[in-house]
Amino acid sequence: MSIALVILAAGKGTRMESDLPKVLHPIAQVPMLVHAMRAGAALEPDEVVIVAGHGADQVTKAAQAENENARIVLQTEQQGTAHAVDQAREALADFEGDVVVLYGDTPFVQPETLERMVAARTDHNLVILGFHAADPGRYGRLVTEGEHLQRIVEFKDATEAERAITLCNSGLVACDAKTLFDLIAAVGNDNAAGEYYLTDIVALANQRGLSATAVTCEETETLGVNSRAELAAADDVFQARARADLLALGVTLMAPETVYLAQDTVIGRDTVIEPNVVFGPGVTVESGATIRAFSHLEGCHVSRGAVIGPYARLRPGAELAEGARVGNFVEIKNALIDEGAKVNHLSYIGDASVGARANIGAGTITCNYDGVMKHQTTIGADAFIGSNTMLVAPVSVGNHAMTATGSVITRNVDDEAMAISRTKQENKPGRARKLFEMLKAKKARRDKER
Ligand code: UD1
Ligand code: CA
Repeated sequence: MSIALVILAAGKGTRMESDLPKVLHPIAQVPMLVHAMRAGAALEPDEVVIVAGHGADQVTKAAQAENENARIVLQTEQQGTAHAVDQAREALADFEGDVVVLYGDTPFVQPETLERMVAARTDHNLVILGFHAADPGRYGRLVTEGEHLQRIVEFKDATEAERAITLCNSGLVACDAKTLFDLIAAVGNDNAAGEYYLTDIVALANQRGLSATAVTCEETETLGVNSRAELAAADDVFQARARADLLALGVTLMAPETVYLAQDTVIGRDTVIEPNVVFGPGVTVESGATIRAFSHLEGCHVSRGAVIGPYARLRPGAELAEGARVGNFVEIKNALIDEGAKVNHLSYIGDASVGARANIGAGTITCNYDGVMKHQTTIGADAFIGSNTMLVAPVSVGNHAMTATGSVITRNVDDEAMAISRTKQENKPGRARKLFEMLKAKKARRDKER
């Protein structure tokens, strides 16, 4: 069965009080829209159509960064959810199969739930995702008889008796494409909001002798985000779920509630994460690594047995091989730290490769930026970089080579060579005592004048 996803993302999200379109606000560092796209991707859709409106340019960019084949259709005026889905009609004119409608601001729907919706299509023409709400509030209500769904009534249009129903509409729909667009064509806007309600297709389907049913899921899956407070609450829900998943996989989190994860964080078993660690997007940590307290990682790969932090920062392109060590107040960007190499204290290693077992002394800096361009530093295996070495890139230091502490290295250093680049030291006998005396006398004169 071919599947087309239609993701509604045209709304402004007035209550977000933001210049950023609502669906681009991130949860766990990934835009809500992308969460919805990733959940839908589990259905292996043949077509992905995003209905954009407010901030369409930004929405297009974000959607196509996630899936370059995603198609964007514009809904210039937001006239309701049926009108929104109708904007995909032309894009899907040649499509045969099922359409699954998702909402860009409902990021938590689980792939298994979407699979159950598609499976329920075997016995029903139209499948709606519902949930039992603890507080049904302003959600649309599902009017059912047995497994048959008769109609959906919007809160604004519901009677007292209908408002007492706790089975609510998530908004998600699965239906054969042709049937869906036929039903939508018959939807009117004679209701309390003056909008074209997608929910009206249920009653229309029943009138035509088609069958509709509701598949249900946990309420947390249908959490919608309409305000910053709901965004924060949604992030909490995500974090709690992601931490529980890691613990179940055999990762130790010393203080789980202080570890902040991204949507795509991957961590192997027997890795230990100390308190207060932040994962940005694109991090993979293999088994048996240790991420010590207060470290910040994004776009990096940490191999088995590596030890990071405390207070380390791994930026995009940081690649740590097995057993590498990156210690406190060290920043690594776009650099390979090869097997067993150590960068233990107060260093910046950017656009570089550090050979196996090399030791980078405290305070070493790769001076990678000349104000216009970035340049590469290459450090060989078993090299020893003395503390406070400035490596002025482009530059290389050979295998088993050494740099003297405090050196400014501007020329390549051969294998097994030692580079020293600093002014010669001079010692002046007795000069310190004289200086101290002079300074103390000066201070005494000044104190007397006061
Ligand atoms: C909708 C449902 C309601 C359900 C609720 C669940 C309808 C008529 N009502 O109500 O039954 O309980 O969702 O959250 O469908 N959108 C567009 N273009 C539009 C209108 C909406 O793209 O013209 C998008 C919004 O950006 C949003 C989604 O569709 O992502 C839902 O729209 P919203 O206005 O929030 O619907 P609700 O009133 O919450
Ligand atoms: Ca809503």
